[in-house]
Amino acid sequence: MTELRDLEVRAPASAAVIVEDVHRAFGDREILRGADLRVADGEFVALLGASGSGKSTLLRIVGALDGGARGRVAVPARSSIAFQEPRLLPWRRVWRNVAFGLPAQDRRRRALAALAEVGLTGLADAWPKTLSGGEAQRVALARALVRDPQLLLLDEPLASLDALTRLKMQQLIAQLWARHGFSAILVTHDVDEALVLADRAVVLRDGRLTEELTVDLPRPRDPGGERFAALRARLLTWLGVPRP
Ligand SMILES: Nc1ncnc2c1ncn2[C@@H]1O[C@H](COP(=O)(O)OP(=O)(O)OP(=O)(O)O)[C@@H](O)[C@H]1O
Ligand SMILES: [Mg+2]
Repeated sequence: MTELRDLEVRAPASAAVIVEDVHRAFGDREILRGADLRVADGEFVALLGASGSGKSTLLRIVGALDGGARGRVAVPARSSIAFQEPRLLPWRRVWRNVAFGLPAQDRRRRALAALAEVGLTGLADAWPKTLSGGEAQRVALARALVRDPQLLLLDEPLASLDALTRLKMQQLIAQLWARHGFSAILVTHDVDEALVLADRAVVLRDGRLTEELTVDLPRPRDPGGERFAALRARLLTWLGVPRP
């Protein structure tokens, strides 16, 4: 487990993720001001908030990609992160992107298994530049899954996709989560996406997680339902978009 500067990192006891009193400043701007968040084992949490509120900053801290924070963070030993852009290495074939960093033994088999999970078996030997946006994002998901993460961190992974592909990817993420049982934190601006996928939605504002909503709807979720609409209205109000 990585020790971050001024950030106490330890193995979580009951919760998969513990974020306690985390602060992060860039220059004299304090973006996170005592953020607290707990994610239970196997729980799916959606993280919402205005642009610039610090969602990516918080996710990077949880993913041990930011050494400049203060506070306490506990995360499972195996966590993976996927970003808005797929960040594939263009000079490596798809399967090698997925397998990047794995021990040599068994690497192709593991990459192919992960690609099969995201429905891309046929593209294992393709070059990244030949992929559509949705395919590239699925490769990024396979790369995150291949390490069998206990925690999956997703920073707006579907934001750049067309609406139809985004809906299909939401279903894929829901299936993968149900099958593997990892904990997940999904950053999204899409309120419906949060309500379709998450057990709980939390809102980051003024450097803290100020609101939370338990999404107590049966799965698969129906965005056309009445309860769904009520939760949507509440979340939108918190995000500064009250209903007319
Ligand atoms: N490395 C950095 N150096 C300086 N400022 C930074 C750095 N990273 C983030 N910031 C600032 O911190 C604030 C929060 O950024 P962050 O990317 O976490 O926001 P966000 O909530 O993810 O926004 P968005 O929804 O637009 O992705 C922004 O004002 C940003 O400019
Ligand atoms: Mg962001």
